[in-house]
Amino acid sequence: MRVLVAYASAAGSTAGVAEWITGALMARGHEVVLRPVEEVTDVAGYDAFVVGSAVHDQAWLPVAADFLAANRRGLSGKPVWLFSVGSPGALRGPLRRWAMLEENDILAELLMDVTPVEHRLFTGVLTAAAFGKFGALLFRAMGGRFGDFRDWAEMEKWSASIADALAEQKT
Ligand SMILES: Cc1cc2nc3c(=O)[nH]c(=O)nc-3n(C[C@H](O)[C@H](O)[C@H](O)COP(=O)(O)O)c2cc1C
Repeated sequence: MRVLVAYASAAGSTAGVAEWITGALMARGHEVVLRPVEEVTDVAGYDAFVVGSAVHDQAWLPVAADFLAANRRGLSGKPVWLFSVGSPGALRGPLRRWAMLEENDILAELLMDVTPVEHRLFTGVLTAAAFGKFGALLFRAMGGRFGDFRDWAEMEKWSASIADALAEQKT
């Protein structure tokens, strides 16, 4: 299967997730093209799509949301997996569970353009520099921790499930 993995990243961690997914799909025999959404000129010629974005203010980066809206026709009728990269895993306990609820808000906007096979909310890299002084203070006050929270085992598992679903479609 020919798969497009398209992503939008502000500080680079979502790009890393997209690269990981690409590698995992290729390792399972799929032909994969990896592109930042702004570099995708045509979605014709792909059998399936994995599209992801960093989360800012409980939404996809505008460039990624715009990509889905602009390509809703091209993507319709083909399997689409979506992923978001945010911060819930950098929080603890009840706050983490509360933060996971943002998935509904993130998805509500995207579902207007696409009906995904599945959506995953991963945790990315949190840095004080990216948040700015006030944002970083607020995040710390909520018990947030800075660091790289990308769970590669979780991404490997998810990628394997996508690869299996694609292999089934082929047969
Ligand atoms: C300005 C700003 C706003 C953010 N807002 C959210 C948010 O609303 N929800 C969330 O889960 N993560 C939020 N984050 C955390 C990022 O999604 C996280 O750091 C992610 O790894 C960024 O991906 P990137 O490195 O590809 O840009 C925010 C980060 C920044 C810098």
